[in-house]
Amino acid sequence: MTYDPFAPDTLADPFPAYGRLREECPVHRYESRGMEFSTLSRHRDVLAALKDVATFSSRQGQGPFRSEPIALFDDPPSHTFFRRLVTTSFTPRAIQRREQMIESLVDELVSAMLDEPSGTADLHDALAMPLPTIVIARMLGVPEELRATFKRWSDAQVAGMGAGDVEEQRRTRREMQAYFIDEIARRRALASDGAEMPDDLVSGLVAAAMQEERPISEAELLSLLTQLLVGGNETTTSLLTNVVWRLLERPERWQAVVDDPALVEVAVEESLRHDPPVLGLFRATTCPVDIGGDIGGDVDVAIDRLEPDRKVMLLWASANRDPEVWDDPDEFRLDRDLTTLRARHLSFGFGIHACPGAPLSRLEARLALAALVRRAPGLRLAGPTTRIEPFFLWGRRSLPVGW
Ligand code: HEM
Repeated sequence: MTYDPFAPDTLADPFPAYGRLREECPVHRYESRGMEFSTLSRHRDVLAALKDVATFSSRQGQGPFRSEPIALFDDPPSHTFFRRLVTTSFTPRAIQRREQMIESLVDELVSAMLDEPSGTADLHDALAMPLPTIVIARMLGVPEELRATFKRWSDAQVAGMGAGDVEEQRRTRREMQAYFIDEIARRRALASDGAEMPDDLVSGLVAAAMQEERPISEAELLSLLTQLLVGGNETTTSLLTNVVWRLLERPERWQAVVDDPALVEVAVEESLRHDPPVLGLFRATTCPVDIGGDIGGDVDVAIDRLEPDRKVMLLWASANRDPEVWDDPDEFRLDRDLTTLRARHLSFGFGIHACPGAPLSRLEARLALAALVRRAPGLRLAGPTTRIEPFFLWGRRSLPVGW
């Protein structure tokens, strides 16, 4: 079947195409724009691939183009080593410690938005974009005055995975790396003088790296910091725009959450399932692999054999709408079971690469949505929305609202 992830119709709303992929072509081959990859779209195939890290390797990066393995973009045992380094400084407790800070920031941003005399604003610009950018900037110890620069770095990093002005992206990446190299050197100097390092993620990583027997290069530390930066920004922004968009699209949904704020949590989780901020990411096969025919049964009919070294996109956005797993999968519903949602949607990935930032983004989304529902119960859509650009991401670039 014809499926082009870059076609304007697919970009505008990819879900109808995903339905056709699951039914007609669960192992799709794409070749165009200098890229060649297969796409898996059924829940069971995506989940099986995420579990089988020996066959579906991360050593060639998460994007459609091949990259060199580094830090978390790798397989065990190297990935395990770096993963531990991140999780020691990025624990659920460390995130909880930030709850107060996030709550006051949400309050400030919502107040500033509601002070707008026109009674309208772009929710992306007023809340969804600044909230995670400021939170992760503070967690990484980036001074407030560098916030706009920092956002530009993060955007360039995301754009670098798709297309765009490669030279401009390289220049921006070098700027960001220079900043972090200075910061790493500053923390290392403080630590070797026996002085206290500032309480942030950069110090956490530097300290953890200093305790390890295996030397950790600057390039590896930079890769980790960049991933925290990119992971923390655009994705959480999209989660916020997506959840508010879907609730306002049907005013009765918004009203249901206003009437019962306990629904905030399920709304956030259903949004993650229905509209994942990352539609899917890539692996590369290490050996020939047969993808089976039957859904759910014992499989002895292969639909397709993937050759070794094949780039494969694992489309969790499609897995999340697989009718084999979900009732009424294309409907955004507030009456789904929270535990089942959390256990089954794949929007934070699964297994050894599962997103360590999930608790942080859930917390930000929950606090922001709760504040909106409480302080702007009359919120409504005030114009057409637009999509963010990268083909593998899904979020609103603009979300005009009124109150
Ligand atoms: C709604 C928000 C977010 C979404 C949808 C999301 C999604 C994902 C997904 C799907 C993966 C798995 C990648 C793979 O399997 O190749 C991942 C990994 C990762 N995420 Fe997130 N993420 C979010 C927020 C965050 C935040 C806030 C941070 C940190 C500040 C973060 C940091 C990371 C890191 C470091 C990894 C790599 C883990 C590894 O390879 O072991 N993410 N994320």
